Amino acid sequence: MEAFLLDWLNILVRWLHFVTGIAWIGSSLYFIWLDNHLEAPREPADSQKGVGGELWSVHGGGFYHAQKYRTSPTTLPEHLHWFKWEAYSTWLSGIFLLGLVYFLGAEIYLIDRSVADLSVVAAISIAIGFIVGGWVVYDLMCKSPLAGNDRLFGLALLLLCAALAWGLCHLFSGRAAYILFGATLGTIMVANVFFVIIPGQRKMVESAERGEAPDPAHGVRAKLRSVHNTYFTLPVLFVMTSNHYAMTYSHEYNWAVLIGISIAGALIRIYFVARHKGDASKVPAVLAVLLLVIIAALLTPQSKTASTESVTFLQVQNVINARCTSCHSSAPVHPAFPAAPLGVMFDSDEQILAEADRIYQQTVVTRVMPIGNLTAMTDEERQIIASWYQSLGGAE
Ligand code: HEC
Repeated sequence: MEAFLLDWLNILVRWLHFVTGIAWIGSSLYFIWLDNHLEAPREPADSQKGVGGELWSVHGGGFYHAQKYRTSPTTLPEHLHWFKWEAYSTWLSGIFLLGLVYFLGAEIYLIDRSVADLSVVAAISIAIGFIVGGWVVYDLMCKSPLAGNDRLFGLALLLLCAALAWGLCHLFSGRAAYILFGATLGTIMVANVFFVIIPGQRKMVESAERGEAPDPAHGVRAKLRSVHNTYFTLPVLFVMTSNHYAMTYSHEYNWAVLIGISIAGALIRIYFVARHKGDASKVPAVLAVLLLVIIAALLTPQSKTASTESVTFLQVQNVINARCTSCHSSAPVHPAFPAAPLGVMFDSDEQILAEADRIYQQTVVTRVMPIGNLTAMTDEERQIIASWYQSLGGAE
């Protein structure tokens, strides 16, 4: 019953996280797009009252006319909309979900004893250390003289992310390492909103209320952080979907795959931002595609040399009964799984045969099953699955 209720909590929070994430990233993409498409105001009167750029659009059956002021309007409107809760609620729901899945289920999802033999308390403490530490290091970097040099700063940020990916992948299960990478970058993004961008805006509003011109330093600081947030977006979104793709996180060099795909994501974003601004260079997009093709080529599964020894179906059944059906059955006995994960069940011969492909993929190619190797499947047993799969005519 407890596992069933936790499953419900999981689905509801995940749903919320998804919706708030769309609202946050959606509005953030929209505002960057808007900023990059502004044109000089058509009416001289608009320009005189301080409008620096405007944009006309049509959406949902209506015409919209957005105007951006060079500094601030002479009088502030009664209702000024802020965009902050989208970010905060995405972070809150995300951290809750992280706790629910990866901390509460640390033995299943967070720890992989073949990567690092950590206790539950140590693993959770280190994970939290990475999330908090990531922000602290990044924030110090932004406040250092390094921030004055765009290229150098970009390189330093890349090195920081690479070190983060490498460290996480050498401490946690691949799946958890990827999620923690996303959680750390996501935390930096939200902390940028909370600690820098919103306080800066508050000061701007206060000066406008006093009828003073806002201090441009706030704008400059906020701009730097918001540029970083833009380039973090695609890598973070990749990571959030990566747990469905074991070929990425389970690879021997999963940290390099993570760095490569993150760079591709950032390059794609660089391309789109430049395109909005009217820069026609396709170089970043081409590089990103090239990088993704190279990664895909490197990830192509190698044919495993199964021993030529023939195995009987009974041997396969025995392995599956011993290592899989505690979770993958119509009535799982594992306390964490009230229902067969993803509906995958191995109760009958037909079910096993029908899933041969996925069984081979999950136990031999990516080796992500049994999850966390909780049922201690041996290499000999993986070999049995490989030989059986080959005898069915699968794999080369
Ligand atoms: C302790 C529970 C547990 C055990 C034991 C276990 N699995 Fe799984 N299995 C899971 C979970 C959880 C998922 C869903 C993972 C996810 O959310 O992506 C899963 C998913 C799968 C999938 C579907 C993967 C996909 O994305 O399509 C297959 C196939 C699978 N397991 C095969 C096996 C095989 C074969 C064994 C035995 C060698 C095994 N599992 C043992 C928990 C388990």
